[in-house]
Amino acid sequence: MYTTIQNNQTPGLYTTIYTPTFLSIIYDVVVLRFNLRYMWRCRTDTVLEPFFAENLSRRHLDIGVATGYFPAVAFSRPFRAEAKHSITLVDLNPDPLNAAKARILSKASNTTVETIVADVTEPPPKALQNSTFDSISMFNLFHCIPGSDKLKAFRLYKDLLADGGVLTGCTVLGGSHATNWFNYLYVKLYNRVGIFHNWNDKKEDFERALEENFEEVETTLVGMTLLFRATKPRRFC
Ligand SMILES: C[S@@+](CC[C@H](N)C(=O)[O-])C[C@H]1O[C@@H](n2cnc3c(N)ncnc32)[C@H](O)[C@@H]1O
Ligand SMILES: *[C@@H]1O[C@H](CO)[C@@H](O)[C@H](O)[C@H]1NC(C)=O
Ligand SMILES: *[C@@H]1O[C@H](CO)[C@@H](O)[C@H](O)[C@H]1NC(C)=O
Ligand SMILES: *[C@@H]1O[C@H](CO)[C@@H](O)[C@H](O)[C@H]1NC(C)=O
Repeated sequence: MYTTIQNNQTPGLYTTIYTPTFLSIIYDVVVLRFNLRYMWRCRTDTVLEPFFAENLSRRHLDIGVATGYFPAVAFSRPFRAEAKHSITLVDLNPDPLNAAKARILSKASNTTVETIVADVTEPPPKALQNSTFDSISMFNLFHCIPGSDKLKAFRLYKDLLADGGVLTGCTVLGGSHATNWFNYLYVKLYNRVGIFHNWNDKKEDFERALEENFEEVETTLVGMTLLFRATKPRRFC
């Protein structure tokens, strides 16, 4: 549940009351607290939150938003909360977009939040075609996307990045990157049930796809989670 109340005295200023739903609390606790830490061996609080915040610019695009956890946490910090940021949220579904928008505005009411329904494996929609961003994030996105061709998202979205901009992201890799028998079985189960689509996802394939589209690519494996950062988009391929 979220409600955006327009403050009539000050046009354009919004007071947002954000009440997390039961499902969004489950998501934050199970996916971000438990699974990432104990299964995928990559903590949200000490690894992913600082990684998200490090390259968050004032003209940001977040793709695959779910509950809006990472931008909401980053925008809660001192200085960030008061700043005039602009953030565009992209997701396949409108519900996470609306919930994430309300959550971000409840933390940082001076932020401009735009929401766009789009599939990252398709060319960016018209609403994005003339936009550029100084930073783009794709957190926990690729392990949810089916199909062997999903990494084309880098090619499709790199032109939305400004010349000096930076793309960051993280994704849980497949069975060959399991660190123990337990997370091997867990990721196998997640694929069998259809929660994840990452059984064949490998570090090398992400690196190759990123290097095809960016001149500078850095990756780090934390447990079975791959963190990536790419800059200098290649413009003519
Ligand atoms: C596991 S959530 C991750 C959300 C958030 N970034 C985080 O780390 O907590 C994945 C999100 O990506 C969205 N998504 C899945 N496939 C997508 C696609 N092809 N294009 C855009 N968004 C997609 C889902 O709707 C969901 O909100
Ligand atoms: C991203 O953040 C790191 C750490 O602060 C910094 O060294 C790097 O220059 C940043 N990259 C860009 C393109 O802003
Ligand atoms: C929004 O920005 C204005 C002007 O910079 C500032 O005075 C105000 O405190 C900010 N609002 C919040 C909630 O931080
Ligand atoms: C994008 O920019 C071009 C050239 O400035 C303009 O003709 C076009 O209408 C714009 N498209 C959108 C969707 O704003």
